[in-house]
Amino acid sequence: MANEKKQATWGGRFKDGPAELMLRFGESISFDWRLAPYDVQVSKAHAAMLAHIGLISAEDRDAIRAGLDAVLADIESGALLPDIACEDVHMNIEQALTKKTPAGARLHAARSRNDQVATDMRLFFRDACGQIAGRLKALLGAIVELADKNRDVFIPGYTHLQRAQPVSLAHHLLAWAQMFGRDLERIEEVARRANICPLGSGALAGSTLPIDREFVARELGFVNAAGEPQVTANSMDAVADRDLFVEFASACALCGVHLSRVSEDGILWNSAEFGYVRFSDAFTTGSSLMPQKKNPDALELLRGKSARLQGNLQTLFTLCKGLPLTYNRDLQEDKPPVFDSFDTLMICLDVLAGTLEGMTVRPDKCAAAVADPLLLATDLADYLVARGVPFRDAHHAIGALVGMAEEQGVPLDKLPTEAVKQVNAAFEDDWASVFDLKRALSLRERPGMPGHEQTAAQIAAWRQRLQA
Ligand code: ARG
Repeated sequence: MANEKKQATWGGRFKDGPAELMLRFGESISFDWRLAPYDVQVSKAHAAMLAHIGLISAEDRDAIRAGLDAVLADIESGALLPDIACEDVHMNIEQALTKKTPAGARLHAARSRNDQVATDMRLFFRDACGQIAGRLKALLGAIVELADKNRDVFIPGYTHLQRAQPVSLAHHLLAWAQMFGRDLERIEEVARRANICPLGSGALAGSTLPIDREFVARELGFVNAAGEPQVTANSMDAVADRDLFVEFASACALCGVHLSRVSEDGILWNSAEFGYVRFSDAFTTGSSLMPQKKNPDALELLRGKSARLQGNLQTLFTLCKGLPLTYNRDLQEDKPPVFDSFDTLMICLDVLAGTLEGMTVRPDKCAAAVADPLLLATDLADYLVARGVPFRDAHHAIGALVGMAEEQGVPLDKLPTEAVKQVNAAFEDDWASVFDLKRALSLRERPGMPGHEQTAAQIAAWRQRLQA
């Protein structure tokens, strides 16, 4: 079943070519073709370096450069299609180049696909992180604008999915912003960590040729803030290391967790039981059977997609665990989960931003829910504490009032003042003023709290951060 066609790139020591089955099994071109722009960029920098150190002529360098540009143009136009006989993006491009110019045969000096793919992927990560950061900023912008419009809408905040204490809708939305703000930091950190050049590490032990690694690093923009080239410190680690893959997938997975939690809040708020918000037709779908249905499918899918993002992270962890140094072909499996995390997260961020832009708030429903006086039971305990009652005693006293209200079938704030005073002598005639929502929020003006001023400060801080 051997294939008579020997492998053009590495076939020298082989009598036969790989089996057709092995070609189909071993190829990565079906998923690494998208690395072509980075691979061309890396090859152009490598050729420039080879000319710089005098290993190839300036004419050959220029022929390689022009040839690579032409190959990329052919890829983009569809004139050059991937060929699984060439295994991967690196060999497909090298072969196509060599067909255009004999100088192509000089390109692979002092490099291996091992340091090449590591370099391509670092360029991919830099780019991908920049794109995700842009989408996160757009989403954050949408959340902050929504918060700004809903500073004066109050809803119950929940613990255990039980009504707990009142907050502004803006404060809840700005909690979401914090989650995505941390995601933004993490993704920017991954981009920063990607900014080191592995090229020149060769297969695992560098090269005997007098290469200039700093030159290549500079060509590819692997430089620090001072413009100094950044190169990896150990050739074996450089080709074996997949930490960035895990870190990238981890940042995506955690962002997915946030997407799923925000989605769940939205799904609950949109249900008839809560009714706080409605979503636009654009991001909801109907039922094939039940004519009345309008389902929040966008949010449900966001919740579902987060599972994929976690799965991709797990795949990468498992792929690397126990692998001996340095490169092993297992590592070819590192790309599908990374690409899937990138593609999935990008569309998820867009969908959430779109869904939130079309979200309308129902102030009447929010007001009805937040009018529940039990939400201010803790404030009533604070009322007693401010009058010298130990907190634990105050807690018991309010607990007794809650029980009394329940027994009498009246709202907590409608208990007779005399009865209230009997439970604790520190209660005064103004005890029920605690149930004024505006007052309750106005007392929460320390940093991070849901008071009006604090909310305004959070919104201003976000606007400033997103402008930068
Ligand atoms: N397609 C390969 C990968 O993504 C490139 C590196 C191949 N290296 C090798 N020694 N076979 O892992």
